[in-house]
Amino acid sequence: MNLIVIGTQWGDEGKGKIVDLLSEDADYVVRYQGGHNAGHTIVIGDKKIVLHLIPTGLLQPGKTGVIGNGVVINPEALLQEIATLCKENIDVSGRLFISETAHLIMPYHQRIDLESEKTKGKQKIGTTGRGIGPAYADKMARNGIRVCDLYDAERFREKLETNLKEINLILEQVYQVEAFDPEDIFKEYLVYAEKIKPYVLNTSLLLNQAMDDGKQMLFEGAQGTHLDVDHGTYPFVTSSNSGAGGASTGTGVGPTRFDEVLGVTKAYTTRVGSGPFPAELTDQMGETLREKGGEFGATTGRPRRCGWFDALQVRQTVRINHMTSLALTKLDVLDGIPEISICVGYEVDGKVLDEMPTALSHLEKAKPVLRHFPGWTESTYGVTDYEKLPKNAKTYLEAISTLVACRIDIISTSSKRGETIVLRNPFTDK
Ligand code: IMP
Repeated sequence: MNLIVIGTQWGDEGKGKIVDLLSEDADYVVRYQGGHNAGHTIVIGDKKIVLHLIPTGLLQPGKTGVIGNGVVINPEALLQEIATLCKENIDVSGRLFISETAHLIMPYHQRIDLESEKTKGKQKIGTTGRGIGPAYADKMARNGIRVCDLYDAERFREKLETNLKEINLILEQVYQVEAFDPEDIFKEYLVYAEKIKPYVLNTSLLLNQAMDDGKQMLFEGAQGTHLDVDHGTYPFVTSSNSGAGGASTGTGVGPTRFDEVLGVTKAYTTRVGSGPFPAELTDQMGETLREKGGEFGATTGRPRRCGWFDALQVRQTVRINHMTSLALTKLDVLDGIPEISICVGYEVDGKVLDEMPTALSHLEKAKPVLRHFPGWTESTYGVTDYEKLPKNAKTYLEAISTLVACRIDIISTSSKRGETIVLRNPFTDK
């Protein structure tokens, strides 16, 4: 069984908890895109662990984690994360593997990310400032430096010197900031190269062999489909394919090998960074959702923008990824809200649209058409049995499932691993 788990909105849907839970039945957990811009929060007992780059499933003992070729790797951040896990007595040696063809985030990528944002003014994307965009830009421009290049010192030095000739000109003359000395980066990265060497492998080969052996595979998307560089609210997106399509190109596993796509969705909507958000609540209700849901970025600590559940948005995600089921998180955050709304249409220039428009200008002026649902006063916190949910909560869930045309497999009612309603486990229930 090969399962892809993706975010259906703008990231932060609670994929960390769902992946952690499902990893119990997986043998391999694989990251296929993004970098340390992602923040996956997992609560085990009283401990909260935030992972950025290492596949969440590695928190479960005995699992193998893979960082695929589609991920961009900051080796310093990776080593820090390995050390953090070590302190928690989670040893990843012999069970974490990094693709030799993954691209590296270099110190100049981060500087360009930060400086480029400064020049954008109103068009600012609100990136995490981790160098993700510039690293992917170099990959596409064929200037990228890959993990395997670190083990051919002369080639590495040559690439670095060539890249910095151009980049230093941009840094000094366009952004008027300090240039980089190739020798400093060369030395720094050779130290990382030695440290990460035991993890480096042809991971496409590893994964395909594991699948041939009948292993259970979980492919863990970072961010969400509406941050996908092709299918998201471009240009207010991240620079990779966070949708299910990325799982194939980002790992070297052919598309026909995947069995199911589970989309994680929040019971409402959040977004960090800039960009259109038609169902956004800028009033007290938005504030209530932010406070009750603890909606502050796991990577940058920024407050998340909050709004009602957007059925147009998630229906599009279901279609683009040919999703097989949904995992709905944070239902408990809606407890006690007298009336809950779902965005079921966008009003643009007096016309009501029932599909998300692609043009940014339309999305920016879209006003939400809301359908209202009565709330519930009972607590759903920690509920593990669907039948124990309040009637109005069930009505709300059923409306979401119908509106987005996708069955719900999992409902999460707290951040804890066990506090989940599992109607169907994609790995163990057919
Ligand atoms: P970048 O990925 O740092 O280039 O940022 C591009 C956009 O994606 C910004 O709006 C970020 O806030 C957003 N973003 C990146 N990673 C995440 C994530 O893990 N969760 C939510 N938003 C993210």
